[in-house]
Amino acid sequence: QKLELELDAIEKGGYEHFMLKEIFEQPRSIADSMRGRVRADEAHLQLGGLRNYLDKLADSKRIVIIGCGTSWHAGLVAEYLFEELARINVEVEYASEFRYRNPIIKENDIVIAISQSGETADTLAAIELAKSKGAIIFGVCNVVGSSIARATHAGAYTHAGPEIGVASTKAFTAQVTVLAIMALAAAQRKGTISEELYRQLLIELENIPDKVEEVLQSAAKIKEIAFIFTYARNFIYLGRGLNFPVALEGALKLKEISYIHAEGYPAAEMKHGPIALIDEDMPVVFLATKDSSYDKIVSNIQEVKARKGRVIAIVTAGDTLIPTMVDFVIEIPKTHEMLMPLLSVIPLQLLSYYVAVMRGRNVDQPRNLAKSVTVE
Ligand code: G6P
Repeated sequence: QKLELELDAIEKGGYEHFMLKEIFEQPRSIADSMRGRVRADEAHLQLGGLRNYLDKLADSKRIVIIGCGTSWHAGLVAEYLFEELARINVEVEYASEFRYRNPIIKENDIVIAISQSGETADTLAAIELAKSKGAIIFGVCNVVGSSIARATHAGAYTHAGPEIGVASTKAFTAQVTVLAIMALAAAQRKGTISEELYRQLLIELENIPDKVEEVLQSAAKIKEIAFIFTYARNFIYLGRGLNFPVALEGALKLKEISYIHAEGYPAAEMKHGPIALIDEDMPVVFLATKDSSYDKIVSNIQEVKARKGRVIAIVTAGDTLIPTMVDFVIEIPKTHEMLMPLLSVIPLQLLSYYVAVMRGRNVDQPRNLAKSVTVE
């Protein structure tokens, strides 16, 4: 038994849980997902697995993205990326809903299936359905040779390495990285992106691992904040634009491992319901980085503060306004808006981790959840 304990400690690489190890691995796993694909100095991108399909992707009129759980959230981020950069119409669907409708799929539609495990039953069934209707299917999977990877026509692996913690962390950032590369490749092929923005985004992508490293340095501070909110019964997460899916992901992380009820919302939707929940007992996490929705987010924060909500804000380093308005701030480095989810999700992963640990939860194997859901 002693040997087993030692083996377990070695596998966790000195971390208390796999989830924490995997959160801290992200500078490397994101770099691994870019390796051989992104060359900013040559303004060059390549995705070997999609080489023969890039024209089809660039020419497509519609992309349907399918996935479940965290992978579905990565799909929502990709929706912004493909629409903004490549000007392709995107729909993001829960695989479980898609498969039981009679979805309209035309022959040149591209379906992108996102799955860490590559074994999710609903996603696999959705792929088979789309295939039978003539769609071209791309996979974004982490597990090499998995059922979904084999069922697709083409794809790009995420190379995040094995993810053991049930709550997905490094797989999410790897998915977003690969999807960003796909969107950029399509945009360049289509000519919808300027040479300058293309170059800038490649440089920003290459800088992401170092910036994630910087975010991770806030772990001790995030732990202190988590301690204060350990006894909360509810949480709201708000964000706009590309930070909206991050709000959903942050809320999911907290639910999964701490069993605290949490809801993610687009910040502007707050006034259509969730604002009724806000009082001094309601912690609200704002994704409030400096981007095109900054001013709007500032007024959303004011609305919450006016109702005595307790605000934790994720802000861009150097922001001097928001820290004067809120209870707690976590700074993250600047990056291009299109890539912000890769940084803004990290503090939310850490927050949920520390809250769950302080509540004595089984972080790596939360109750009722499975790492890979191979039944409906
Ligand atoms: C399960 C896991 C989640 C995951 C989801 C989709 O619910 O607990 O972490 O996001 O399945 O899994 P996939 O392997 O398809 O990404």
